[in-house]
Amino acid sequence: MKSFAEFPENYELIDAGGGRKLERWGSVTTIRPEHQAYFGAVLSRKEWSNLADWEFIPKTEGSLQGNWKKLNQQAPEEWLFSSANLVFNLKITNNKHLGLFPEQQINWEFLSNNLSDTKRFLNAFAYTGAASLFGRKTGAEVIHCDSVKTMLDWGRQNQEASNLDGIKWVHEDALKFIQREVKRGNKYDIIQLDPPAWGLGAKGEKWKLEELLGTLIGEAIQILSKSGVLILNTYSPKVDIAFIQKITKELAIPNKQIENSELWFKTTSGKELYYGIVTRIYK
Ligand SMILES: C[S@@+](CC[C@H](N)C(=O)[O-])C[C@H]1O[C@@H](n2cnc3c(N)ncnc32)[C@H](O)[C@@H]1O
Repeated sequence: MKSFAEFPENYELIDAGGGRKLERWGSVTTIRPEHQAYFGAVLSRKEWSNLADWEFIPKTEGSLQGNWKKLNQQAPEEWLFSSANLVFNLKITNNKHLGLFPEQQINWEFLSNNLSDTKRFLNAFAYTGAASLFGRKTGAEVIHCDSVKTMLDWGRQNQEASNLDGIKWVHEDALKFIQREVKRGNKYDIIQLDPPAWGLGAKGEKWKLEELLGTLIGEAIQILSKSGVLILNTYSPKVDIAFIQKITKELAIPNKQIENSELWFKTTSGKELYYGIVTRIYK
């Protein structure tokens, strides 16, 4: 199944093609590499340059590291991006990311519709905390877990900018935290896992998504409350829907409890861009 995310308020994926994408984040427009954009763009190279404030130039093709080139001399290096009454601190970094994954709108909407002040939400591999903010806005108890301290600090800044409080910040390897929660007998109504293709634990331990996914899902299911939902985002060339179906079969999770869909955005110019897989497992 193909699911299309809507653009979050004030965000627009204007065009894509030629291995890049053109995006507007409030008042700032960027060009970033995008290997899924293997087709031709609709707008010309000149139109892209005229619209964009910044372009990310990777060190080598496909590399996450690189430098930002200023295309508009007034372009800010940091700016506030408001969406759905939340405020996110965005900035150019030494990699191509800016602090938000807008295609996650599909999950933000699900969290907004399914959490409330009587629910508990665990956001693991939580990055700068967009899902935590959407969860907390409903009044739910939110536990935000990430193994990188700068990400927790960034999440706290977003919480403050959004006039929210009370998110519980956990600086730990997500799998270890979940395993501890299994032992402690704590339960969650919704758990969201957004593991990167390559992971790093709080102590720098390395792991590969395809090797750990089964364990991660198996442990997380154990801390789901009755009628709880596990949301899993994956974006890795080694993980497709067939791979997730194989893992969930091995874990003996009945088919009727699982929804797998490919996540897509439609550009304003009419192209379609792939953003990985979203899985929902209903207990
Ligand atoms: C793909 S990003 C998540 C994006 C986020 N869910 C969003 O939509 O804004 C992956 C995050 O996982 C974190 N991470 C990597 N390895 C981890 C681990 N072993 N335990 C916990 N967090 C980890 C990274 O620091 C990063 O913030």
